[in-house]
Amino acid sequence: MRGYSQRAVDIQPTGVRKMFDMAGDDVISFGLGEPDFQPPAVAIEAFSDAMRAGHNKYTTTAGLPALRAKIAESWHHLDDSVDESNVCMTMSGTNALLNVFNTLVDPGKNVLLPEPYFPLYGPDVRLVGGEARFYPCLFENEFVPTVESLEALVDENTVAILYNFPSNPTGATINIEQRDELLAFAQRHDLWLITDEVYDRIVFEGEHVSFVGTDPDRVILINSFSKTYAMTGWRIGYIMCANQEAINQFIKIQYYITACSNDAMQYAVLTAFDEASDYPDIMAQEFKARCDLIVTRLNAMPGVQCHKPKGAFYVFPKVEVPGMNSEEIAIELLKGGVLCSPGTAFGASGEGHLRFAYTISREDISRGMDKTETVLRALRGE
Ligand SMILES: Cc1ncc(COP(=O)(O)O)c(C=O)c1O
Repeated sequence: MRGYSQRAVDIQPTGVRKMFDMAGDDVISFGLGEPDFQPPAVAIEAFSDAMRAGHNKYTTTAGLPALRAKIAESWHHLDDSVDESNVCMTMSGTNALLNVFNTLVDPGKNVLLPEPYFPLYGPDVRLVGGEARFYPCLFENEFVPTVESLEALVDENTVAILYNFPSNPTGATINIEQRDELLAFAQRHDLWLITDEVYDRIVFEGEHVSFVGTDPDRVILINSFSKTYAMTGWRIGYIMCANQEAINQFIKIQYYITACSNDAMQYAVLTAFDEASDYPDIMAQEFKARCDLIVTRLNAMPGVQCHKPKGAFYVFPKVEVPGMNSEEIAIELLKGGVLCSPGTAFGASGEGHLRFAYTISREDISRGMDKTETVLRALRGE
């Protein structure tokens, strides 16, 4: 046998899985980045109805026109120029990201990515032969990058910058002023602006601040129904771009990745839009209550400092135990019955942090925080 491609050999498994593989069944898990809700019942019904009605075939590559039109309409408050022709259905946000990097990045070119990061970004850019350059999102700036840090990384081979607000793993969001500064940076260097807004419906204060509508020719939206309608296992998402030439390129490439999205499921998502439009808000309300709970508990623990995020369902506190790194602390917590992720699973700058996903009930959060506190106090000799 001739072996494997260099790119396959070079890619490392993600650090997030490592803790899962070590965990027993009886731990309280703050590890999973997926809502602990089921999709709306009407969507599940619609899915099975659509299959019974014969929607079990290939669709056009871009997807079901009625769903694409509905998605475009859902962004009309920010950009009323978009219609179904600006949307390409994909089989998840993950798929959308790989498509976009394939379409935009040549070998030798680079993409600016956030750190700490959603662990797929860097490997995706490398898989297409590009260079991943990480800009810091620091605790002291509430995990929002400074323009100076972006300026220090950009060069003539930079083709795109990716922003992710609300963020995984930090829960960070931006205000309009910050958004406009980040946009101006991309415009100054004439970069594609890829905006991963898969948590756009999970925001706790005010309106979600989006890049959509700010610079229609430049902005490429990555989105997914995984978090919006708790459909992580369904694998459905989309790319939206007002730039017709760009979206046509994405649609062309999508054909070579999955040919099209899932036929029946697109009808189910359409039904969710029509009949369960308040579902994301109901989930967001619950996540907000959990966020308040976990942040209060963490900030009352010795050696812990935690910002209060305004979106997504993660906290990324600083956790200090003298002489121990974040992975060692996470392993001790696991022995004490709590699964969380070491900050370094999201990049080296995550050292000193842990990520807790509050995708479990408030009762379980409280029990998990009791255990976390016990372990941290013991480790710190208090
Ligand atoms: C920031 C971010 N982007 C994209 C995704 C991909 O989501 P999916 O592939 O389930 O649509 C995730 C999933 O956790 C995420 O956290």
